[in-house]
Amino acid sequence: NTVFVNGELIDRDKAKVDIEDRGYQFGDGIYEVIRVYDGNTFTMKEHMERLYQSAEKMKLSIPYGEEDFTSKLLHLINVNGVKDGIVYLQVTRGVSARQHHFPSGDVVGSVVAYTKDFPVPAHQMEQGVTAKLVEDIRWLRCDIKSLNLLGNLLAKQEAASEGHFEAILHRGDTVTEGSSSNAFMVKDGIIYTHPVTNLILNGITRRVIEDLCRKNGISFQEETFSVSELMTADEVFIASTTSEVMPVVKIDGQEIGEGTPGAVTKRLQSLFNERKG
Ligand code: PDD
Repeated sequence: NTVFVNGELIDRDKAKVDIEDRGYQFGDGIYEVIRVYDGNTFTMKEHMERLYQSAEKMKLSIPYGEEDFTSKLLHLINVNGVKDGIVYLQVTRGVSARQHHFPSGDVVGSVVAYTKDFPVPAHQMEQGVTAKLVEDIRWLRCDIKSLNLLGNLLAKQEAASEGHFEAILHRGDTVTEGSSSNAFMVKDGIIYTHPVTNLILNGITRRVIEDLCRKNGISFQEETFSVSELMTADEVFIASTTSEVMPVVKIDGQEIGEGTPGAVTKRLQSLFNERKG
């Protein structure tokens, strides 16, 4: 397995991180996870654009331009012969003596990318998964796809330790998103999801869903909803690069709707499958 480290393609076993890399010491970096279906990337441009937006928000400089970086990643995918999988990439603020403020401008960011096989989680997508409600204690810049994921990890672990697939986060009474996904509910045929603000990640899968809704006459509302509205919804689903459109059939042990994947969710799954090509 070949990985990309600072411009070079090397063997996975040879890849090393400097102990003073700011990504390693501070989580001072950004990342993306991009899907590969049957050897082809899915919504790669959107992911790359978001990466450069995250970089700008963090005042972090990516050593390659977007087109150059994209072709480097496509090359890696080819070299590894990825069929159904993901490419993970991250950029940190580079290596310098530990200090909180940013290093001088001549420190170059560290760039790492690797691929992994990742089959579609077909069984869970068909049966639906369960989730746990967890208080959203993250910071106020959840729009940045930063490596600092401790708030997300604590929430996911709390859910996973009780056998749940995802933690659905709420800030006070308002449902924000999942610990590694966006969250949606369906009520009377209308899909609701948190608007794009600093409190959620502007998910690429979320945008695909919005587009599918618009093109297929499904009503899609970017509007906040409460925990009790979530619990009494007709359907709930989450969405991400790796989970696609994932039905949530139980939250905190309570069935949502009929306790099985709902009609709107299933329709979106099939529209999503068509879009994947
Ligand atoms: N997670 N919200 C959060 C907090 C996320 O971490 C993710 C993605 C999403 C969905 O974004 P997208 O549709 O662009 O994948 C929403 C990735 C997959 C991860 O951290 O592994």
